[in-house]
Amino acid sequence: MSLARREFVAGLSAAALAGASSAIRAAGEPSLAERARRKGLFYGCSVANQLDKDPAYAAAVAREAGLLVAEFQNQWQYLGRKPDGATDFSAGEVVARFAAAHGQLLRGHALIWFTRLGDPFKQAASRAEAERALVAHVREMCTHYAGRMQSWDVVNEPLDPFDGGPDGLRARGDALTEKLGPDYMDIAFHTAREADPKAILVLNEAGIENDAERHERQRRNLIGLIDRLQDRRVPVDAIGLQSHLRTGRQSSSGAGYGAFVPAKFERFVSEITARGLRIIVTELDVFDGGSPGDVAARDREVAAMYADYLAIILKPKQTLGVVTWGLSDRYSWITGGTVDRFKRADKLPSRPLPLDADLRPTPCYAALAAAFDAAPSR
Ligand code: G3I
Repeated sequence: MSLARREFVAGLSAAALAGASSAIRAAGEPSLAERARRKGLFYGCSVANQLDKDPAYAAAVAREAGLLVAEFQNQWQYLGRKPDGATDFSAGEVVARFAAAHGQLLRGHALIWFTRLGDPFKQAASRAEAERALVAHVREMCTHYAGRMQSWDVVNEPLDPFDGGPDGLRARGDALTEKLGPDYMDIAFHTAREADPKAILVLNEAGIENDAERHERQRRNLIGLIDRLQDRRVPVDAIGLQSHLRTGRQSSSGAGYGAFVPAKFERFVSEITARGLRIIVTELDVFDGGSPGDVAARDREVAAMYADYLAIILKPKQTLGVVTWGLSDRYSWITGGTVDRFKRADKLPSRPLPLDADLRPTPCYAALAAAFDAAPSR
């Protein structure tokens, strides 16, 4: 057990747990956003379409988050059309307006994601048409939000450890590589840079945290991709580590998901920073499927996973901040019931996020707070 985990679990006395979960926060206690800001970091969360529907949740988001990201509203596939055919940005603008009203940073997710492409690209009949569609979309999104986006996930999940074609890039059934080849990333990043020179441009990837074979393959392929993009002078500023973690060693497919090995992950993080890149933890949550049903025991394991992971990822000054994928178990892709691999065998609802479904801080909140307090200043 790593030092971070030992220290953290030891500190999770019953009183500490009770204190952490008894109230939103003791009056005067700094928020997660404030704790992160004190160290030159940011803490934020994704929000789906709840801000104008759930006042209590909106209040918690306003209080705890220093950055917001629209969870799906800015995905190409979900952008609506106005009667005059213009792009309807209204769903994403709800999040942007909320962030502006509460002095929060804003980040964009995701300009290009193979599984959420817009019809103009999917229906493109030639390479030229596909390139025009991609450039038009990236340019329109970045121009619309220009000056307001702290960062953009320009390309999301370009790699696949098993389906990957040459160099681990997605191949089978991937319209992006079929129509444009790997150059689609060059085109997307250059277009984003030109349309919004202020935004930090991020390559966002998943499945790179643990010691399973597929994670190691994904890490090797990501480093290789970074080297090729840098050789081609593609303007990638930062790597987004989605960081969808889990307790235990089981996996959805039954194959070994592996465990988090701090030293191995730290070596990988060093490979990224050695290439002059910054890091954003973009979608942090912890699925507790590998933990017992008892809530206190489960919460301790989830919190210890947060503690272990953050102890490593917050060390480098190149790490800019942490975004959890949701703020509360009330709204999470893990607890939403739509993803089979997140259904616990005992059918109990999972507890992946800093606030539980009743918006009370969980031990995971305490782990985030402790990690920001212990992080080196940048
Ligand atoms: O809310 C609308 C509802 O009004 C509408 O009737 C319904 C019709 O389909 O759609 C609802 O929106 C759904 C939305 O989640 C609600 O939160 C979308 O269908 C559904 O596709 C969307 O799923 C999102 C998914 O990405 C696909 O965009 C999840 O919220 C979101 O958590 C998930 O996030 C991804 C990241 O983008 C990339 N990394 C992995 C992560 C988890 O899959």
